[in-house]
Amino acid sequence: MSLVNMKALLQEAQSNKYGVGAFNVANMEMVMGVIRAAEEKRSPAIIQIAQARLPYSPLHLLGPMMVAAAEHSQVPIAVHFDHGLEEERIKEALELGFTSVMIDASHLPLEQNIEITSRIKELAASYGASVEAEVGQLSGSEDGSTEHQAYYSDPGEVKELFESTGVEAIALSIGNAHGLYKKEPRLNFDILRDARELVPTPLVLHGGTGISDEDFRTCIQNGICKVNIATANFLAAEAGVREYCRKEERNYFEMSRAMVDSVCENAARHMDVFESAGKAGNK
Ligand code: 13P
Repeated sequence: MSLVNMKALLQEAQSNKYGVGAFNVANMEMVMGVIRAAEEKRSPAIIQIAQARLPYSPLHLLGPMMVAAAEHSQVPIAVHFDHGLEEERIKEALELGFTSVMIDASHLPLEQNIEITSRIKELAASYGASVEAEVGQLSGSEDGSTEHQAYYSDPGEVKELFESTGVEAIALSIGNAHGLYKKEPRLNFDILRDARELVPTPLVLHGGTGISDEDFRTCIQNGICKVNIATANFLAAEAGVREYCRKEERNYFEMSRAMVDSVCENAARHMDVFESAGKAGNK
């Protein structure tokens, strides 16, 4: 149990057709909430932080806490660096013991994406860690951008990137976006199915907030093994505190607990939908 490599976690999910929730965290309460949900649900999980969030949650402070939480958990937990943009930052995460890193070079032409991803693959391999790459650009928040323009993945490019780099996971752009959707997302499952046919590696769905349970299930049935949830987790953290602060009598510690509870509830709900609940075996 405890801290595991993301490759093993995703391969298990791929063989048994369930999804592993990758929950973005920003502080101790959020880390505790996700880990508690995973333990209560007997579910594997991934805790992650995106490079764009480091001005709020410094890596040298939050990173060791994430690793320690995974090491002490009773279920398999991978610790992932989400949307890594610079090699130096990725290296810092690997030094701290993260078991997986994402290199987001999806905004570059494929050739350059492959070149940078290959370099990170070699670096991560020297730490025994996995790499997630991205083909086709998503928009919004966790990747540090503000525009809501997305470029669909080309399954042929997904194949080329996989064959050139051998990464352990690939994120796709199929109509998904980070943050709150302005209108209901319409996912293009054909792109997903085509990519699935072409590459054996686990596929990743970013922009999980706002996607319907039914679409989550369709994605998982068609090759998605890792589902990223950030905004819903941050909203849950905030809502838990807001709700608690309506009480007349309150104190800091119970407010902190309210945040843990609310994040736990959100993560647990997703674990049920992704059918990862129960997959970590019995105690
Ligand atoms: P959401 O904020 O839409 O849940 O996206 C999460 C994500 O993909 C993080 O990389």
